[in-house]
Amino acid sequence: MEQDLVTEAGVRPVSRRAFIEGSLAVVGAAGLQLPLWAQPLGRPVLPLLFGVDYYPDHTPESLWEEDARMIADAGLTNVRIAEFAWGLMEPSEGKFEFGWLKKSCDILNKNKIAIILGTPSAAPPPWLSKKYPEIMEVDEKGQKLHTGGRRFTCPSNKTYRRLSVAIATEMAKNFSDTPGVIGWQIDNEMTLGSSRRCYCDYCQQGFQDWVRTKYGSLDKVNQAWGTVFWSQTYTDFSQIPVPLPSGGDPNPGLALDYDRYQSYANASFIEEQLAVLRKLCPKHFVTTNNVSLLDVIDLREHYAKLDFASLDNYPGFFDMLMRESKVEMPPDAISAMIAMSHDFARCIKRKPFMIMEEQSGKAGQKTFSPQPAPGQVRLWTYQAVAHGAMGVNYFRWDTATFGAEEYWHGMLNHDRSKSPAFEEMKQTVRELKGLGQELLYSEYPAEMALVFDYNSSWAVSIQPQHFALSYMNQVTAWYGSISPNHSGVDFVAPDGDWSAYKIVYAPLAHVITAAQAEKIKSYVQNGGVFVAGFRSGVKNESSQMVKTPLPGLLAELMGTTVEDYVPIYGAKQSVKFAGMLAGWAAECGLWADVLKPNGAEVLGTYTTGSYAGKPAITMNNVGKGKAVYVGADVTGEGLANLLGKFAGMAGVKQSLQAPRGVEVTVRRAGGKEWMFLLNNGAEATSVTVPGGFRDAVSGKAYSEKVELKGFDARVLLAG
Ligand code: GAL
Repeated sequence: MEQDLVTEAGVRPVSRRAFIEGSLAVVGAAGLQLPLWAQPLGRPVLPLLFGVDYYPDHTPESLWEEDARMIADAGLTNVRIAEFAWGLMEPSEGKFEFGWLKKSCDILNKNKIAIILGTPSAAPPPWLSKKYPEIMEVDEKGQKLHTGGRRFTCPSNKTYRRLSVAIATEMAKNFSDTPGVIGWQIDNEMTLGSSRRCYCDYCQQGFQDWVRTKYGSLDKVNQAWGTVFWSQTYTDFSQIPVPLPSGGDPNPGLALDYDRYQSYANASFIEEQLAVLRKLCPKHFVTTNNVSLLDVIDLREHYAKLDFASLDNYPGFFDMLMRESKVEMPPDAISAMIAMSHDFARCIKRKPFMIMEEQSGKAGQKTFSPQPAPGQVRLWTYQAVAHGAMGVNYFRWDTATFGAEEYWHGMLNHDRSKSPAFEEMKQTVRELKGLGQELLYSEYPAEMALVFDYNSSWAVSIQPQHFALSYMNQVTAWYGSISPNHSGVDFVAPDGDWSAYKIVYAPLAHVITAAQAEKIKSYVQNGGVFVAGFRSGVKNESSQMVKTPLPGLLAELMGTTVEDYVPIYGAKQSVKFAGMLAGWAAECGLWADVLKPNGAEVLGTYTTGSYAGKPAITMNNVGKGKAVYVGADVTGEGLANLLGKFAGMAGVKQSLQAPRGVEVTVRRAGGKEWMFLLNNGAEATSVTVPGGFRDAVSGKAYSEKVELKGFDARVLLAG
C-alpha cells in the first residue's frame, strides 16, 4: 500500500515507503528500535485514521471484496479486525490458521485500507475454557463466571497469560510484514468486565506476591493496614485474603491495595503481549481500547507503555442506560460526560488519542437506543476531534445477523443496505480528512486542570461515608461547573506536572500523600490557585485516617482546619457567600465540612441548622498563590458560579460565551488556532464570535454571529 503520510506540521507529504526508509535509517543509526509511527520527527506520524470496525470473521468470504470496495468508496482509511476471532485463528491448541485473515488483509490492502489487528484475548474459544477451567474469573461474591459470553477470564492466571501470549505471538509472526497492517489493539476493553475485579485463587496468590514486593515484610503490612483490628494480624503472606464477603467489611487498607493490585494485574497482562509485539512488529503502533473514566483500572498505568490511548464512545447507548437507571439528568448531561471522557482520554498520555469505536446507529444488545438524529453522528465525531482525537473508527461495518450483538447497528443494515447515517459518516470523514493531519495532531490548550486520583476514587468507593457520595460524581459535577462550554480543562494526576496550569481543582482529594502535599504547597507558593473540595486530606495512602486536624497534610496550606464533618441526609443546607463571592447563596447537597479558619479568609458560611454562621469556604494567600477549601458540597448553578469565580481570579481566559449545551473548544498548531463550535441540542442557536473567522470546512467567512443548526458542528479559523 502506498498511502500518503503527512508530517505533524502538515507541510511535507511523504510516501509511506519513503517515510519507512528514511525513518528506519535514522533509527538504525541511533541503534534504536522504535515503532514506526513514533519516529524521528518527534511527533506521531500516521496515516489518517478514519475507519470502521470490521468483522470478516462474521461475513461470507464472497462478500469481502464488496465490503472492501464499499469501505474504500465511503472514504474510510482503516479497519480494526480480528479482536474476537481466537477460535478461527487457533481452532485447537497450538494449531494456527491465519489463511483466512491473510486473505482478508490482502483484499483490504488492495483497496488501500490500512489494518489494525486485534489480539483476541477478550474471547477465548470453548476448547480453551473446557481444557483449562481454572482461567475463569471469580466475581465479588466469590462466584465463578461461566463461558458463553466474553471477558470471563482472570488477569493473573498464568495459563491464561501463556495462551494469550502464544496467540499474540503467532499473530505477530504472521502479520509483521503483511502489507497494509499498521498497528495493533491488544485485547478489548479491560475496563468492562461484568465484575469489576477478579477474586480467584490465582489473583489471591498474585496479590500476596505483590504485597510481599511492595512492603518487604509482614510487619510493615500489618502496620500499614492496621490488622490488629478484628484480629487480622498476618503471620504468613499466604494468609492474606482478597476482599470477598466475610461477615463484615474488609480492611480498608487491604481493599485499597487490592484495587491497586488488580490494576497492576491488568496492565501487566497487556504488557506481556506488548513485549512480543514490540519485538516482532517494530514498525507497528500498539494501543488498546477502553471506556474512558471508569475507575476499574488505572488507565494511566494501563497505557504507560502503549503508543496512544484509544477510546470507545457510545453516547446514545449511554443515554439509554442512564434512562433505564432512572437517573435525573439535565439535558446536556450526556454531552458533558462524553466531553469529560474525551478530555480524560487525551490526558492519559497527554497526546492525541483515537476513538476505536464510535456509535454509528441504533446501539444496544438486548434493548437499543434510537437511531441518532440527523447530524448527531457527525456531531459526536467532531466532538471527539474537538477534544483531542486524531482519528475515529465507526462501530461497526455491517450489522451482525447472529450473536449477542444483533441489535448493535453498524454502517450497513441487516440486509446490507446503507444505514440512515451512512451518508452523514461519509461526509464527516470527507470533511475531517480535508482539515488534515495538522489539525488532527494539534495541541489542546488548557489553563485549568482537574485532578483525577484513582486512590481517592477507590478509597471513597470502599467507604463512601454517605450512601450517595461518589468520587466520580463529584469529579463530573466539578468538570461541568469549571467550564460550562467544556473547554480548556485538562485532567491531571495528583503527582503529575501542574506547571502549565493557572488553577488546579481537586474535588474530594481524599487520599493525600506527604509528597503530594509538598508538591501542592510549592505549586501554590509559585503562583498557582489550588481549590480542594470537602473531605480532602482525610486519609493516608494506606487508607488510614490522618491523626492531625483535617484537612490533614493540607491544613497548614489551607489556613483552616475542619471543626466537624457532617453527612447531610435530611433538609438541604444553604451557604451564603462573602468577600469576593458576596451577593449570592447556594445549596449544599450531601456534605458539610464545618471550618475553623486559622489565617484564611472566609468566603462562605452555612446559614441553617446547628452550624449556621460557621465557615463553609475559605481562601488562604500563600506565597504568590492561593489555596481554597470548599467545605460545602455546593450543587448546581451555585457550583458553576463558585468555581468560575476562582478561575477568573486565577486569570483564566474562558472561551467565548456560548449558550448552554454549546461546546467551544480550541486546538492549536504552528501558529494556527481552530475553534470548534458544537451544538449538542436539537434546537438551532447561534454564537457570537470576536472578530473575523473562516469556516475551515466550507471557507465561509463569519464576523459576528455564527448560526448553528440543531446538532451542528463547525470548525472556525481566525482571520
Ligand atoms: C464495545 C466493545 C465491542 C462491542 C461494542 C458494542 O464495548 O468493545 O466489542 O461489543 O461495544 O457492544
